[in-house]
Amino acid sequence: MGEFVIAQPQALVDLADSDALLAGSAAVPVHVAIIMDGNGRWAASRGLPRVAGHRAGVQAVRRTIEAAIRNNIGWLTLYAFSSENWRRPADEVRDLTGLLRRFIKSELAELGRNGVRLHFIGDRCRFDADIQHELVIAEAATQDNSRLNLVVALSYGARGEIVAAAQRALLEVAAGKLDPAALDETYFASLLSTSGMPDPDLILRTSGEQRLSNFLLWQSAYAELVFTDVLWPDFGEAEFVAALHEYARRERRFGARPG
Ligand code: IPE
Ligand code: IPE
Ligand code: MG
Repeated sequence: MGEFVIAQPQALVDLADSDALLAGSAAVPVHVAIIMDGNGRWAASRGLPRVAGHRAGVQAVRRTIEAAIRNNIGWLTLYAFSSENWRRPADEVRDLTGLLRRFIKSELAELGRNGVRLHFIGDRCRFDADIQHELVIAEAATQDNSRLNLVVALSYGARGEIVAAAQRALLEVAAGKLDPAALDETYFASLLSTSGMPDPDLILRTSGEQRLSNFLLWQSAYAELVFTDVLWPDFGEAEFVAALHEYARRERRFGARPG
């Protein structure tokens, strides 16, 4: 990632000038979550090995982080590796974990300089010890930053996350620390890996697939879903801003009467 200077909250200005910004519309999302899909197809369409798609995907991650900062997004979650992605061939898993290792090492200083605070969700114990160590370092090194909270979902699966939260609640009940009647939605959410984070307002998926693939199932209850045919390695600021505009056109009701 090169040095990037944030002079103007560009999209905020664009959105404010846009006809799309209707009264009562959702306007600018606080939290954008992205299912980064299509690396393999991008590579195949060029006659390249899948790893080339994943490498190009890393460049798209850089562009997207920069776009999120420029557009004043407070929270960006990137689905980088699902709990089901361990089912892929060993060489592809090795390529993906290798890219992760390199990305954290090479980008940490730059992300920190740009005010990014890193969080990781998912079952990190399944990664090699050195990667787990890098994740701890990255979270600690950036914990005082607040310009952009970047959440990277690694070995993440929403069903597993929900079951783990249920297990925690049951243990608290068994230990006499929790009255089952006191287990409400707010308390349950505090037991998830996303405790303390706002729910995603906008979930964006690239590559034309229209499914969640076990991503943030609890947290997405009222998220606006945006799908684009663009393959992840081709994603950049233009596609990011287009999704923000699409989001601004939506009317969020949360079950209430249309306003
Ligand atoms: C997204 O691209 C990267 C990960 C899921 C890790 P894919 O590797 O899923 O690419 P396609 O869907 O096969 O094109
Ligand atoms: C979802 O993509 C997971 C990530 C983007 C990390 P997949 O490519 O694994 O999803 P499916 O298998 O097509 O549902
Ligand atoms: Mg895929």
